[in-house]
Amino acid sequence: MIDLHSHIIPGVDDGAATVDDALEMARVARDDGITTVVATPHRNPWSYREDRVDAERRLEEVRLACRREGVELQLLLGGEAYISPDLVEQVESGLALTINGSRYLLIEWPYEHYPPYSERVLFELQVHGIVPIIAHAERYRIIRRDPFYLVTLIERGVLVQVTASGLLGEFGPEIQRTTEMLVAGRLAHVIASDSHGVDRRPPRLSAARDRAVTLVGEPAARAMVSDIPRRIIENEPIELPAPKPRKPQPFWAFWRSG
Ligand SMILES: [Fe+2]
Repeated sequence: MIDLHSHIIPGVDDGAATVDDALEMARVARDDGITTVVATPHRNPWSYREDRVDAERRLEEVRLACRREGVELQLLLGGEAYISPDLVEQVESGLALTINGSRYLLIEWPYEHYPPYSERVLFELQVHGIVPIIAHAERYRIIRRDPFYLVTLIERGVLVQVTASGLLGEFGPEIQRTTEMLVAGRLAHVIASDSHGVDRRPPRLSAARDRAVTLVGEPAARAMVSDIPRRIIENEPIELPAPKPRKPQPFWAFWRSG
């Protein structure tokens, strides 16, 4: 399995604080059957904004610690960008880091409101050849209210990541229900840990994958933790499964929509 979203780089955000913390996360990931972790530190103008070389150097320290301790795990560099009107420029300047230097960019939003420029920014990124991945989609109010809001974005080629611990109920029943709807409705393409430490959103995927198997079957669940993340880190194009159509509305629904 490949974990596409992890705050394993020490000392740069609210994830691992030290190399030892990162090593512990690596150990837990490896023991869970994860072979590759993409380090995705928060990257934006008000938090971690050192250059790529700094991120690579910090990640290399974790790689060396893993090698020293015999923890076999591939560690790749990416970033978690924050939706912003100038996101294209952030990609071009190297502040927003794509996943393993690919065309795929992990982006997060504020949880409670959806900035009006969001869709313009997504479009501009796509014009520049970037494929946006919506980070932890289950947590945004707009999606919790209407998961089908994602259909239009997915039809335009945007990918959606949900969080393993969300699927397992660690953020409460509402977020669990939303995560299940996204997975069952084919509105999620990647399950990742968004791990911040061994206790906080632990770096594990196997339990969430098993839960996904009960919702969509084995091949689709495996695709979300292996096949699709592999295509992303290898910068290959991805053929998205069509979202399941929204449940038919009752015949009187048009009275409410008017
Ligand atoms: Fe994150």
